[in-house]
Amino acid sequence: MSQSRDAFDAAAHFDAASAMRYDRRIRSFCSSYDALHHISAAWFERLPARAEFLCAGAGTGAEILALGRRFPFWRFTAVDVSRDMTKACRDRVVAAGMADRVACFQGRLQEFRSATSFDAASSIFVSHFIAGREEKLAYFRAVSSLLKPGASFVLADLFGDRASREFEPLLHAWLASYASCEVETPELERDRAHIDNDIAFISERELFDLLNEAGFDAPIRFYQTFLFGGWAMTKRH
Ligand SMILES: C[S@@+](CC[C@H](N)C(=O)[O-])C[C@H]1O[C@@H](n2cnc3c(N)ncnc32)[C@H](O)[C@@H]1O
Repeated sequence: MSQSRDAFDAAAHFDAASAMRYDRRIRSFCSSYDALHHISAAWFERLPARAEFLCAGAGTGAEILALGRRFPFWRFTAVDVSRDMTKACRDRVVAAGMADRVACFQGRLQEFRSATSFDAASSIFVSHFIAGREEKLAYFRAVSSLLKPGASFVLADLFGDRASREFEPLLHAWLASYASCEVETPELERDRAHIDNDIAFISERELFDLLNEAGFDAPIRFYQTFLFGGWAMTKRH
């Protein structure tokens, strides 16, 4: 697992300009983004009607809105290291009339402490920015420590072994799909550099080892779009 890259600064990257463009850009970058939120919800169907849900790296709040509509009595805790993404999330939650059941916190998930033990959590497109085995493990351990035993966890991230047979074809097809969304060449070039420099790809095997070490049982891959994967799992008792 490579540790040679400079650490990616998510708080600086997801600034006001990035937060403003995020909802449009992510849907070009990941064409199944809304579908991912929709199908993730299926893994949470058995939770109590008044579940406490942790949204790690909540971004602009799209997951919370999707889940909040489907599960009208849940309470949400959104944690995000970026001030501007947290503000966008808060504004969105207020506009959706969900302010009374969503608490937003700005800060790294690794340092977040709560008196609540959560029934479930999601982390969507967050940990692929964290470079280094120990740093990724610390992030997953932090999620795990905030959950009740038996709690459900949905993780989605870019993944893959760069040396594998399928990596380059999947990357190529992904970028072709992205380019077809009327993205101008300079933006494409910036995003190609962003993928090369800022995404800490690991294989699914390495990911499963980390999740196991962090206290999660047998992840099931339920989603894949090019190099984006999604897994459902439970915290060990
Ligand atoms: C690509 S966005 C994904 C947002 C949202 N989950 C979604 O599905 O659209 C990644 C988010 O994770 C946040 N983030 C990155 N590292 C984090 C960390 N260690 N703790 C909390 N938030 C983090 C970033 O600030 C950013 O808002």
